[in-house]
Amino acid sequence: MSPSAFLSLFAVLCMCGVQQCLCFPNGSVAYSCAHMIPGHPPYKPSNSNPPFTVSTSRATYRPGGVITVTLEVNNSSSSYFEGFLLQARSKDENALLWPVGKFTNINTTMFTALHCKDIKNSTVSQATGAKKKKVELTWEAPSNSNHGDIYFSATLVQDYRTFWVQLNSSSVRRDTSSATGVISSSVFLFISLLILIAFS
Ligand SMILES: *[C@@H]1O[C@H](CO)[C@@H](O)[C@H](O)[C@H]1NC(C)=O
Ligand SMILES: *[C@@H]1O[C@H](CO)[C@@H](O)[C@H](O)[C@H]1NC(C)=O
Ligand SMILES: *[C@@H]1O[C@H](CO)[C@@H](O)[C@H](O)[C@H]1NC(C)=O
Ligand SMILES: *[C@@H]1O[C@H](CO)[C@@H](O)[C@H](O)[C@H]1NC(C)=O
Ligand SMILES: *[C@@H]1O[C@H](CO)[C@@H](O)[C@H](O)[C@H]1NC(C)=O
Ligand SMILES: *[C@@H]1O[C@H](CO)[C@@H](O)[C@H](O)[C@H]1NC(C)=O
Repeated sequence: MSPSAFLSLFAVLCMCGVQQCLCFPNGSVAYSCAHMIPGHPPYKPSNSNPPFTVSTSRATYRPGGVITVTLEVNNSSSSYFEGFLLQARSKDENALLWPVGKFTNINTTMFTALHCKDIKNSTVSQATGAKKKKVELTWEAPSNSNHGDIYFSATLVQDYRTFWVQLNSSSVRRDTSSATGVISSSVFLFISLLILIAFS
């Protein structure tokens, strides 16, 4: 076999590997971490208006803080989803493909915890192909977070033929007020000390 033929075969084999993705109803999809596209040949991501909403319990986060993320069908929608892939991402353009933080209390009866980019539990998918109208997950921000603002991105699979890729939540701003609070209270303490010294 010539080297180029070998390379093509290698490329084809790699493609096949990538194609697997969300085919597994058990959600073992670690290799679709970056593009979040399920391999459901010959079907492509839907361009139609998704009947789903990705929302968060808070509009800001603090390092080490937790947020509830909800994936659900829209009001009065008769729709449902069988599979999903969910992760948080930084708004920083240089870090777009990296999941941020991790999900906690993942109930493994319902969900599969994935370790995208070697970050434990940074991504969650379904554990079964049961029809779902709503799922809620708890996300924990990294304790040393310098990721700036983030958002949640989800792929929702209605069935093998119909799926929406990377539906995004609104931005969740990095809350810097606690750090500012600590600084201003220490500045206050320092000034109080100075005053005490000056008047003693
Ligand atoms: C999910 O299903 C695939 C295909 O049947 C299997 O190879 C894989 O081990 C399963 N993963 C888990 C976590 O059960
Ligand atoms: C469902 O709600 C989301 C946001 O809440 C919206 O972007 C989307 O267009 C809605 N889909 C339909 C079919 O109304
Ligand atoms: C459903 O409608 C209610 C009231 O109109 C609204 O408060 C809620 O945010 C909507 N939910 C979604 C998922 O669009
Ligand atoms: C990841 O989630 C699983 C399932 O809930 C849990 O057993 C495990 O301790 C978690 N690991 C980390 C590092 O959070
Ligand atoms: C996990 O989910 C299953 C199915 O919904 C439920 O029966 C079980 O109580 C849950 N476990 C925990 C620890 O919440
Ligand atoms: C979600 O955000 C990513 C990154 O900015 C973008 O590539 C993708 O198109 C967005 N999804 C939708 C449905 O707009």
